[in-house]
Amino acid sequence: MIDKIDTETLEGWLDNVRSFADAGRVADYIPALSERDPHELAAAIYYLDGDYYQAGESDCCFTLQSISKVISLALALIDNGEEYVFNRVGMEPTGDPFHSIYRLEQHRPSKPLNPMINAGALAVSDMIHGHTTEEKVGRLLSFLHELTDDQSIKVNEGVAASEFETAYLNRSLLYYLKQHGVINGDVEDTLKVYTHQCSIDVNVQSLAKIGAVFANEGRDLKSGRQIIPKHLAKICKTFMVTCGMYDASGSFAIKVGVPAKSGVSGGVMASINGFGGIAVYGPSLDEKGNSVVGFKLLEILSNRYDLSIF
Ligand code: DON
Repeated sequence: MIDKIDTETLEGWLDNVRSFADAGRVADYIPALSERDPHELAAAIYYLDGDYYQAGESDCCFTLQSISKVISLALALIDNGEEYVFNRVGMEPTGDPFHSIYRLEQHRPSKPLNPMINAGALAVSDMIHGHTTEEKVGRLLSFLHELTDDQSIKVNEGVAASEFETAYLNRSLLYYLKQHGVINGDVEDTLKVYTHQCSIDVNVQSLAKIGAVFANEGRDLKSGRQIIPKHLAKICKTFMVTCGMYDASGSFAIKVGVPAKSGVSGGVMASINGFGGIAVYGPSLDEKGNSVVGFKLLEILSNRYDLSIF
């Protein structure tokens, strides 16, 4: 039985990867994200037995960004079932950047290729049940409170406003999806849900806990209550493997080999069956939009502790 990665050990691994932040850049296409210090660094591990370790600046709050796509997908699947969701969004990786519009034109009837690219995630946000945008965002927040057992998680309104104002590409994706009948709702309303879900503040503890719930086949770690049905948790983890790190998903699968999802705020959430959840935060990004330090730390941990699922 391999030793657990405790706080002291995790601090040591963080020191080993700290300098990699110099190789990347903080996202600046959303003004509110560009203000972060590229050298912020934190990591956390939630084991399935409830043991928890954290290192670095673990109190740092950062927004979920694209990591929210896994959570909104789980909720949309719970709300609508697989058939409805996958009639509107596909299951195939693209190998394109996350905000690419290019492939929407190539398929008839139009259908975003998967729920982890922006086009697919926008369609998923449209599917979340609720009469108003507030109700939809409220349901997403309640779902997160359940997953993390942390009722204080909320939307960072400053980031949400900054993102909503500057979401020109996402608006164009939505207008395209609306024209082709992929979304039912109003473009601005759907954009509001999406930008709010991306702007939910978390820390590495809550993110590692969510990863652990997915790894625990959708069950709460303490009570064993099924929060996400097992087969839906499995679908989400499979998307994390095939498309979770965007057009770096192939190299991430080879170098790290665990289901993971990144966001442009610099967060990465990994979910490993039989092990638990790992969260890393480092806002310096590589050219594909993944945390440089997050990728490197997960690569080191995977090699050292034999975490690859392959
Ligand atoms: O749609 C956007 O631009 C962001 N709110 C989320 C993008 C993102 O996190 C992509 N991640 N690597």
